[in-house]
Amino acid sequence: MAIMIWNETYSVGVSELDEQHKGLLRMINEMHYAMNDDKGQEAISSIIAQMFDYMELHFSTEEGYMHQCGYLGLLAHRAQHDEFRAKARDLRERVNAGEFVLSFEIVQFLSEWLQSHIMVSDMKYTTLFAEKGLR
Ligand SMILES: [Fe+2]
Ligand SMILES: [Fe+2]
Repeated sequence: MAIMIWNETYSVGVSELDEQHKGLLRMINEMHYAMNDDKGQEAISSIIAQMFDYMELHFSTEEGYMHQCGYLGLLAHRAQHDEFRAKARDLRERVNAGEFVLSFEIVQFLSEWLQSHIMVSDMKYTTLFAEKGLR
């Protein structure tokens, strides 16, 4: 897997949301760098903490704008966010229980989230948000 570099294809057209999405790319890169240095295991707790920060801030911002704009896909979208929340909780519980969690599992989950959620589901609200004047 390659290091992720932000480019305009990732943009949802709202700078606040783009800045938050960049945090996900930073998590992916931090995990990659750590794994390349054989420090993947040491990085896991920090990445999981960042996942919690990310989901608490970003999902509420995004869902707030969806609500404000009357986005019809809000409930289905929130269900996807709930899957991320469940995964983060699962990872934290397993780490706290002393289970060996593969750093690869985390970086793969985050990379898939970027491709399947941000690039597909988040992109569906961009037209409406732009029409409502969000920038
Ligand atoms: Fe998002
Ligand atoms: Fe989302």
